[in-house]
Amino acid sequence: MDNISQTEKNISIIYIISEQKDIRGMIKRALIKTADEKKITELSGIKALPSNFNSDTYIITEYNRMHIAAVSKITPKRNVKLYVYVNNIRDLNEHDVIFLIKHNIDHIIHSKNIAKLTYEKFIDAKIFKKKHYNAFIDKSSTLFEDLCHNNDDIAYAGINIYGISNHVESVIEKACKIAQSESSVLITGESGTGKELIARLIHNKSRRSMNPMVSVNCGAFPEGLLESELFGYKKGAFTGAFTDKPGRLDLADKSTLFLDEIGDMSLSLQVKLLRVIQEREIEPIGSLKTKKIDVRIISATNKNLEEMISKKLFREDFYYRINVIPVHILPLRERKTDIIILIYYFLKKFGDFQNNSVYGISEDAFGILLNYGWAGNVRELENLMEMLVVLNESGLIAAKDIPEKYKCASAAGHGQDARLGTKTGINIDINANKIKDFGIDLKKEMEKTEMDIINRAMKISGGIKEKAAKMLGLNRTTLIEKLKRYEKNKK
Ligand SMILES: Nc1ncnc2c1ncn2[C@@H]1O[C@H](COP(=O)(O)OP(=O)(O)OP(=O)(O)O)[C@@H](O)[C@H]1O
Ligand SMILES: [Mg+2]
Repeated sequence: MDNISQTEKNISIIYIISEQKDIRGMIKRALIKTADEKKITELSGIKALPSNFNSDTYIITEYNRMHIAAVSKITPKRNVKLYVYVNNIRDLNEHDVIFLIKHNIDHIIHSKNIAKLTYEKFIDAKIFKKKHYNAFIDKSSTLFEDLCHNNDDIAYAGINIYGISNHVESVIEKACKIAQSESSVLITGESGTGKELIARLIHNKSRRSMNPMVSVNCGAFPEGLLESELFGYKKGAFTGAFTDKPGRLDLADKSTLFLDEIGDMSLSLQVKLLRVIQEREIEPIGSLKTKKIDVRIISATNKNLEEMISKKLFREDFYYRINVIPVHILPLRERKTDIIILIYYFLKKFGDFQNNSVYGISEDAFGILLNYGWAGNVRELENLMEMLVVLNESGLIAAKDIPEKYKCASAAGHGQDARLGTKTGINIDINANKIKDFGIDLKKEMEKTEMDIINRAMKISGGIKEKAAKMLGLNRTTLIEKLKRYEKNKK
């Protein structure tokens, strides 16, 4: 059956390619609900696949790079839809996702969405969605629509948490389990990782969701004020207390109290709150009566509380009270597949609502964002994407639109990936022949790249060596030595 072309007789319009019979069977079972079984052909490899097609065709292959590379070459592409099957979407790393994008895959199916797989005739407008040749991530990409699907567990909780990393899945799973309990939860993670989002998910999935979650930012109030915010006060308790005021603990009765930035709470207030957690009752300032309350406490911090305990800046007994169940959220740079998904999500979110003329992001711009360190995590990415979308005029977000700060830090080695074409000054292609053919002096090129990065860091830091060294993760003395050597070479 080598290289047969599709004829009138050969009416198959759906090819399922997998070495494993059970995978082919599973995909076929899902499809025959909407497609005529006679039109489906199972193949164990790509050799038997026709090289051109007369009718509109679906090609569904398992995740096998050789198969994907081969099917992506099929022309004309217009009437062929390419699907890739993976058992678990979480098994994909950032290189796999990039591979799928580069090979123009239209859809991804996996064990969780396979039941929804349907055969649609190509006249369906959705299938003819226009693709922009110069967009690496296209706002109308159906592949990303599949990848960015919100977890069904949280869809009904009114929370938008996107990401396909194993980490995000395990945090969501843990949060949903915790929601069924009454235990105190401590959420830790760098700034902007989504701690409040997870706190809301726990609350919304709990039996307390009938009442609104009450939040207090412990870092936003001076000590005395935080106490009256939490406990409330009686009229005349202190100068200025003209009326009774309920505290947030009281307002959170039968609900959840979210104590954000708990690391900023004073030691004396920690003692008072410890008593509330133990006794489950409060005493407003200036009141002689206590009141029973039923509050679930979720705390969050980006500080290392154990280190603070060792420095006597945080109470150990209080720590164990609030940290019955710990939830830690990893920084964004440690879950790169989520960066890709979130770039698409924010592109769509801000594109749809703020500037509909934006259709995508270029490969260069994408490379910069993927390799940046994201110290401000999801919030920083969200803010940058909003700015890039709102200010965009050409429709395509390109590298030139991204502020220098992101390019410099990206090139300075936050896991840079030469294959993505980040602008480091030299496009390093690890191919010995090419290097030989073009006569590249690698050492010289590397020095040139290094100096380019150092120069940019010096510019950004306003010429302050200490600041530039910190940015580059170098000792100040190492930086000075490099600058001296550079000056000498120039002469
Ligand atoms: N996985 C995610 N999917 C979609 N949006 C996210 C995700 N994680 C975080 N965000 C968004 O990023 C922003 C920051 O999240 P959040 O406020 O929950 O972080 P945080 O850890 O509490 O930050 P901070 O430490 O600064 O208080 C919010 O707008 C939130 O909606
Ligand atoms: Mg927060």
